[in-house]
Amino acid sequence: MDVIVIEGGKPLKGSVTISGAKNSALPIFAATLLAPGEFTLENIPDLMDVRTIIKIITEFGCRVRKNGADGYTVDSTGVNNHEAPYDLVKTMRASCLALGPLVARLGRARVSLPGGCAIGERPIDQHLKGLSALGARIDISHGYVDAHVEGRLVGKHITMDLVTVTGVMNIMMAAALADGQTVIDNAAREPEVTALADFLNAMGANIRGAGTPTIVIEGVRELKPARVTNIADRVEAGTFMAAAAITGGDVDVCGVDPVNVGAISDKLRECGVTVEENGRNIHVRGGERIIPINVTTAPFPGFATDMQAQYMALMSLADGACVITETIFENRFMHVAELRRMGADITVSGKSAHVRGVKKLSGAPVMATDLRASASLAIAALAAEGETTISRVYHLDRGYEHIERKLMSLGATIRRIPGGKP
Ligand code: EPZ
Repeated sequence: MDVIVIEGGKPLKGSVTISGAKNSALPIFAATLLAPGEFTLENIPDLMDVRTIIKIITEFGCRVRKNGADGYTVDSTGVNNHEAPYDLVKTMRASCLALGPLVARLGRARVSLPGGCAIGERPIDQHLKGLSALGARIDISHGYVDAHVEGRLVGKHITMDLVTVTGVMNIMMAAALADGQTVIDNAAREPEVTALADFLNAMGANIRGAGTPTIVIEGVRELKPARVTNIADRVEAGTFMAAAAITGGDVDVCGVDPVNVGAISDKLRECGVTVEENGRNIHVRGGERIIPINVTTAPFPGFATDMQAQYMALMSLADGACVITETIFENRFMHVAELRRMGADITVSGKSAHVRGVKKLSGAPVMATDLRASASLAIAALAAEGETTISRVYHLDRGYEHIERKLMSLGATIRRIPGGKP
């Protein structure tokens, strides 16, 4: 397993272009299952999770070809298999995004129940509630979900019990081909949901209200292939913004819609960081001091749970104490133990982490436990005194494209040791 070694203490300077969003690329690949023909996808990041979703849709009969640096062609004409094997699904929860499209197109889907993951149990009851409301018969046995419908799904009014991003994506994709109107209330408003709705509409769907709590889908008889340019990754952007802030740097984060990082920008400004928006470029300058500011994670447009760990790294060097509350996942504080090993002063009590800023962090050997925790450790390492070795960086590779290359271009002293000993 690779390790990444970071020598801390250098302010980041320069500009970085943000890659395509992982969390919109995955549903976009899944959506190609809905219609036969050749799709063109652009601005797709080179990530492990993208390679996994490609393997999964290939299992169903898609033919996927790389197109240049960040493009793919997907030919879904030959989709005929409705079963996703456990050994693939267990590596990535988002595989469950195949459920909606397969039931809508083939009338059948058999997908292994995604196991939990490090950050929480992450059930898919809401996905299944929605598909069942649309008329699919749902059977769960031997760790698999079997969804089946005779004929077409039928549109319904569905009120989600809670805000779920991939849950609303699954239902939206299935409803696009249902007979009649579907209304989804209490829908997630994340930009990745809107990006998927835009792609589905380009395929001939009739979806309005994405990005608001109520999405209305008029089912159509068939969809057709389309071309899509994926949106930029708002979490990658936020991660680099936090890295610029913690190192007292001066960085242009390029190619991202400022609206999609609004809550992060506002919070960083409260912390004394200068954040200036120039079109799709965000200029971030670290402040004289890091002001401790409380944060509570929330569904979009609130402060993203996917930025909680990175923000905690920043707060560990604030000049004072603050409270970070995680409301989305039940176990998303695993970065705390590793940050403590670098000298952070953090106490967890239930859903809240009490962070007392320290004067300095010291480099140490640390271990990544999940995707955003590993980003948090990298951010802390950039500001720590001395050398940090991060093991199990495959977690980082799931969501950050060429991160060491990008950090190196900003002046960080960072190197990857392939197969390095932890
Ligand atoms: C998406 O996961 C993202 N992943 C996550 O990003 C992100 O943290 C999360 O949304 C919240 O924004 C992708 O888009 C691939 P949820 P998702 O369904 O859809 C509970 C990253 O780091 N829930 O919105 O799986 C669930 O347990 C990843 O890039 C149910 O109880 O998250 C969680 O507590 C991590 N039943 C909460 O809702 C359900 O049927 C929100 O989950 C569905 C969800």
